[in-house]
Amino acid sequence: MTKSTETDTTIDSASFESIARLTYNESGLQLATEKKSMIQSRLRHRLRALDLEDFKQYTALVCSDSGRDERKHMISALTTNVSHFFREAHHFDILTNNLENNLIPRLKSGGAVRIWSAGCSNGQEAFSIAMTLLELLPDAEKYNVRILATDIDSKVVRHAQAARYSDRLTSGIPDRFLNKFFVKDVIDEEKIYTATNCLTNLVSFKELNLLGNWPMKQKMDVIFCRNVVIYFDLETQNALWPRFHQSLNSDGHLFLGHSERIADPQLAGFRTDGPTTYRPL
Ligand SMILES: C[S@@+](CC[C@H](N)C(=O)[O-])C[C@H]1O[C@@H](n2cnc3c(N)ncnc32)[C@H](O)[C@@H]1O
Repeated sequence: MTKSTETDTTIDSASFESIARLTYNESGLQLATEKKSMIQSRLRHRLRALDLEDFKQYTALVCSDSGRDERKHMISALTTNVSHFFREAHHFDILTNNLENNLIPRLKSGGAVRIWSAGCSNGQEAFSIAMTLLELLPDAEKYNVRILATDIDSKVVRHAQAARYSDRLTSGIPDRFLNKFFVKDVIDEEKIYTATNCLTNLVSFKELNLLGNWPMKQKMDVIFCRNVVIYFDLETQNALWPRFHQSLNSDGHLFLGHSERIADPQLAGFRTDGPTTYRPL
């Protein structure tokens, strides 16, 4: 019998609890007990990759001092990275309005604009922001505007940096943008679209844990943090809002995902201004 067929890939309760606690402390992600079998199947390949016999061995490794690298693989396996180009289009309408009336006039008079896609996954959100900007300001590169895009998961950050998307991932991109901002290749009969420099030059992708330090020095004009905090508990969410408030300019916008809310906006220093859209008080 080979080692892999000997592997016991059923997660025991004690291992599940240790992994859930570790994941919560490291990333804020909550692993509900009902999701045990999903967690088990998402981590199973890690046991095989490491040639471990069962989840007890895996748990001992990730909880140990020498498990730092594996903790990153574990978080990567446990995050949900689903994203789409131009997801939740109403935020891009608000962004367009804000760019036209406020941010682009500021750029043209020599000011700076900073936009943050926090929890950017494979980069679809950040590139959608870049396309929205470039449609209104085709020579955006000449101005002091940057889009920062960050995620805890190094795997998706690498995907975003490569800026390559298979045909099925590009469905939300209007044809006029796909033709203008992407180069098409056919590899092994699959269409692959690569973002051109005019998009990639506007965006910096970086690994960043929202629970850790935020090294950015400049305040943001717009923060997209959509479909990220839905995986956090109320305590973690409530600790995040004042940090976003501090990172935003006084006339900035914070966009959350469709099923996310700031429980007490006023307490966090925000007012509601449109669907899942918040602005500093
Ligand atoms: C469902 S995706 C959302 C992507 C995009 N914002 C959107 O709405 O399409 C959630 C992303 O949040 C990231 N994430 C989860 N916990 C995080 C944390 N503590 N710090 C930074 N990113 C985190 C995940 O890695 C994942 O890529």
